[in-house]
Amino acid sequence: MTRHGEQPTRSVVHPAGRPVEIRPMTAADLGAARRLWRTSPGIGLNESDSPANLRTFLGRNPGLSQVARQGRRLLGAVLCGHEGRRGYLHHLAVAPEARRTGIGKRLVTACLESLADLGIPKCSLFLFANNESGLAFWQRLGWRDRRDLVILQAPVPRPRPRRR
Ligand SMILES: CC(C)(COP(=O)(O)OP(=O)(O)OC[C@H]1O[C@@H](n2cnc3c(N)ncnc32)[C@H](O)[C@@H]1OP(=O)(O)O)[C@@H](O)C(=O)NCCC(=O)NCCS
Repeated sequence: MTRHGEQPTRSVVHPAGRPVEIRPMTAADLGAARRLWRTSPGIGLNESDSPANLRTFLGRNPGLSQVARQGRRLLGAVLCGHEGRRGYLHHLAVAPEARRTGIGKRLVTACLESLADLGIPKCSLFLFANNESGLAFWQRLGWRDRRDLVILQAPVPRPRPRRR
């Protein structure tokens, strides 16, 4: 990527002989991506994943999240972002009929290359503890399971009303 938001299409694969384009996600992809995520066991959508929040995420991380498109069909999607020092992937999913053709790996590779372009040296992700096939995929790609870490979480309090 030479400049934010101008990342080129990175790779093309051909399951069943038809070209599949891997390219950065735009706001126009979000409807199809949310449909894929909603129907993919192993992906947990919650209140953080409203269309407005996802548009904000893409705007704050231009060119990093990726989709796989075969013509108008969305076959895969992943969110990728960073906070200046560490990259994060969320919601990697590939349509069931397109799995095991290399699309997931290419989506992840495109994300990591984009992070590398920005000088981000490491990337993390969250995985449901019972997602054994997801874990097997990540391990196949060489990702390490950090058993020494746990995730802690708390709701952010609502903003206090402003005094006049
Ligand atoms: C996990 C997922 C994204 C993998 O996508 P995919 O396109 O099928 O994966 P790929 O074809 O790119 O596979 C890359 C490598 O991982 C291996 N792999 C893929 N799925 C695997 C699995 N369930 N178990 C073991 N290995 C797996 C492939 O054999 C391939 O190995 P190779 O490079 O030696 O040939 C897909 O199965 C999916 O959408 N699952 C549901 C959502 C989910 O659980 N996402 C992960 C949580 S974030």
